[in-house]
Amino acid sequence: MARAASGIVRRAWFVQQVNDSTVAGAEGFPNHTLVLNNYKRQPEVLGTGTFSTVFAARVISKVNIPGADNGMPVAVKEMPLSRRGTADVADIEIKALAACASQRGVINLFYVDIIEQAQGQASPGDEQGDPPAPEQILRLVLELCHSDDLYCTIQRHGPLEPAVARQRTVELADTIQWLHDNNIAHLDIKLENLAMARDNKTLKLLDFGHALLWGSRHGYADFDSSNWANSLAPTTLDCADQAPPPNSSPLCMRLSGTERYRAPEVQMTEHNHGCDPGSDSAPSAPHSGSKSNQESTQARRYCYDARVADTWSLAVLFFELRRGYPPYERHCTSKSDPRFDAYFCAMAGNQWARIWRNHDKIKPRNSIPQAQYTLTSSEKRVFEQSFRMEAHRRPTLHEFRTKVAALDAATSDAETDRAMQAPST
Ligand SMILES: Nc1ncnc2c1ncn2[C@@H]1O[C@H](COP(=O)(O)OP(=O)(O)OP(=O)(O)O)[C@@H](O)[C@H]1O
Ligand SMILES: [Mg+2]
Repeated sequence: MARAASGIVRRAWFVQQVNDSTVAGAEGFPNHTLVLNNYKRQPEVLGTGTFSTVFAARVISKVNIPGADNGMPVAVKEMPLSRRGTADVADIEIKALAACASQRGVINLFYVDIIEQAQGQASPGDEQGDPPAPEQILRLVLELCHSDDLYCTIQRHGPLEPAVARQRTVELADTIQWLHDNNIAHLDIKLENLAMARDNKTLKLLDFGHALLWGSRHGYADFDSSNWANSLAPTTLDCADQAPPPNSSPLCMRLSGTERYRAPEVQMTEHNHGCDPGSDSAPSAPHSGSKSNQESTQARRYCYDARVADTWSLAVLFFELRRGYPPYERHCTSKSDPRFDAYFCAMAGNQWARIWRNHDKIKPRNSIPQAQYTLTSSEKRVFEQSFRMEAHRRPTLHEFRTKVAALDAATSDAETDRAMQAPST
C-alpha cells in the first residue's frame, strides 16, 4: 500500500482491523468513501458531544456486523469529517475500541463506515449552479447503552446510594486498570462518558477520543527510558525542555480531558501551548507564583503520567457519585493556573477542615437520607489523599481501588452511628 500522506495508511489499517470487509481496497480513510446500508438510523438522539451526534439505530442486515442479530438495537456515533480535528479523534477512538473488544467494561464497537451526505441546495450566487460537495460522515456502530449517561442520571435523581457509588467506582477502577495494563489511558473519564449497559448490570466506558495508546502492542517502538530523563519519575510536573514523549511511553504533554476532572499536572500543560521548546529561558518552579516566574514558564514543558491523570479523574467521579456535584470548581481568576483556583488553593495548602466545612453546608437535592449523603471520615481521608497536589504522594489506581472497596465495611458502622445520632427532623 503506497503511503500517500502521513497518517492515512495508518487510519485505513485501523478500520481494517475492525472489519475487513468494510474497507476492502480502501487506501485513504478518511478520503475514501464507502456507502453501506446495513442498519437503519432512528430519529432518537441519544447524546451529543464536541465531535459527534449519537443516534439510536437498528441492524437491518447482519452481514457485516459480527455478533449482531437482525433488528438488534445499536447506537450510531456520527462524526462529520469536515470538522477540524475529527479525523484524528476518530482515528484514536477506533484503534482504542478495537483493542478493547474483550473488555466488558468498555463499549463494544461493531462496525465502522463512512457515508456521503448531501449538504442541501447550491447557493443562489453559485454561477455553475453545482450542488455543494457532499459531506463525509464517519459512523461508528456501537453497542447500545441506556440513553441516560451517568451525568443525566445524577442530574435527574441526585447522587447514587453510597454503597452503589462505591461499587460503581470499584468496577470502573477495574476497567481502567485493565486499560492501563494494556497500554491504554482513557484521559477523559467523566460522568458523561459512562452509561449502563442495557442489562443494567455493567457500567460501560464510552468515548475514547482523548485516549493515549503507547508501546509495541499498539505498533510503537519499545520505549528506551534512558532517552527520556524524567521517565522514571512519572509523577513529575516539570519536564523541563524535553522533546515530546514518544508514543511508546505513557507520559503525555497535551491538555486532555475535561476541566473539572483534570489533575493539576494536566492543567499545567496549558503552558505548553505555543511555547518554544528550544528557548534558553531560565527554568522556574511550577508553583512559585511570581510574575517573572510565570513569564519564564513559557519556556518550560510540563508532562504527566496519563495513568495518574486517569486516577485523579476517577477520584473526582467518585466524589460526584457520592455527592451529586464536583469536589471543586474553578472560581477563577486565571484560566491557566490551578494555583488561583480557590479549592485547588485550599487543597494545595492542605486546608481540608475548611474545605469539608464548606461542603457540609451544601444540602442534598435528592431522596438519599442526609446521613448517607454526608461523607464519612474514611471517605474524606480517601479524597484528601487522592487530591494531593504532588502526584507521587497520591494513591496509585490499585491503592485507590483497594481503599474504596474497604470503605464498605468501614462505612456501614459509621453510617449506623451517625444515623442514630442525627436529630430527627
Ligand atoms: N453507545 C451509546 N449508547 C447510548 N448513548 C451513547 C452511546 N455512546 C454515546 N452516547 C451518548 O452520546 C454522548 C456523546 O457521545 P461521546 O461522548 O462518545 O461523543 P464525543 O463527541 O466524543 O463527546 P465529547 O464532547 O466528550 O468529546 C454521550 O455522553 C452519551 O450520552
Ligand atoms: Mg464524551
